[in-house]
Amino acid sequence: MGAMIVITTPTGTIGAAVAESLRAGGAPLRLIARDPSRLPDTLRGHADVVVGSHADPAVLNTALTGATALFVLVPPNLTAPDVTEHYLSFARPVADAVRAHGVPRVVAVSSLGRGFAGPAGLLSAAWAMDEVLESSGAAYRSLQPPFFMENLLHQVELIREQGMFTLPADPDAPLAAVATADVARTAAGLLADPTWSGQEDVPVREPVDHTPREMAQIISETLRQPVAYHQATLIDYRARYASSGASPAIVDGMVEMAEAQTAGVYPPASVTGVGTTFRQWCGSVLAAAVTRPPV
Ligand SMILES: NC(=O)c1ccc[n+]([C@@H]2O[C@H](COP(=O)([O-])OP(=O)(O)OC[C@H]3O[C@@H](n4cnc5c(N)ncnc54)[C@H](OP(=O)(O)O)[C@@H]3O)[C@@H](O)[C@H]2O)c1
Repeated sequence: MGAMIVITTPTGTIGAAVAESLRAGGAPLRLIARDPSRLPDTLRGHADVVVGSHADPAVLNTALTGATALFVLVPPNLTAPDVTEHYLSFARPVADAVRAHGVPRVVAVSSLGRGFAGPAGLLSAAWAMDEVLESSGAAYRSLQPPFFMENLLHQVELIREQGMFTLPADPDAPLAAVATADVARTAAGLLADPTWSGQEDVPVREPVDHTPREMAQIISETLRQPVAYHQATLIDYRARYASSGASPAIVDGMVEMAEAQTAGVYPPASVTGVGTTFRQWCGSVLAAAVTRPPV
């Protein structure tokens, strides 16, 4: 049987980068996409496409026929009425289809900090997803990123216009972070490799943690413009998400996640780690976004 790698969310930040990296390496690909017109041009004509959502058992039944590896990502959904149920509404049908089709290897995007004792909002929901996917019996890699550097792209205007960015994190406590490109690169490497087995957690993070105050310094040096860090109170943070249309469950999940981050949900970085540093990311991704004229 030839290889067939199935990719969910190929129109998303990570999924598109995973698919593109595998395509460049010549791997046979099948993409599950709700709206194929949103696929990157580079993928069109280079992969099978199954139209629909990976929460749909019928779509999964078609997509996983003959699959030798599967990439799973649960889409963010600001309006989900229940955070854990949102993750499991994808994880359950995916696990059932993986079991039914005997898919040998599954790689999913979860979160760093698995094993944390307390409630952790969105992070806990991702770890619940891991358990369900592991119950499929497939060989499994739970990719575990912390805070995405790309989250700061939502604050490009604030950075450009007001010289600041804001998070609920303590200005002087290390904040683990990762560039999404590193998550995609790690996923693509595992998906292209047919030799691994067992079920393992795979932390993916930048080699050194920075405090938000240090991040502000690095951003200022990169942009050659003073940028300050402002710690949002949890009350402001809650209000900001609520006014952006998030459901009460998502707002609670975000706040609980922020509290878990303050409580040390992420273990300290190991300096032996590899990956894009925050300074490199600022120089390549953030600088381009900040200097791009607003549309
Ligand atoms: N942000 C962080 O700091 C952080 C940290 C750790 C882990 N994570 C995890 O990383 C993931 C986010 O990845 P990302 O940034 O690559 O996401 P993204 O860019 O927002 O992409 C979302 C993808 O999901 C698809 N999608 C949306 N709703 C869907 C539905 N109902 N059914 C099927 N597909 C749907 C979208 O496709 P279309 O809309 O084109 O159909 C798109 O391809 C989440 O699981 C999150 O928990 C995030």
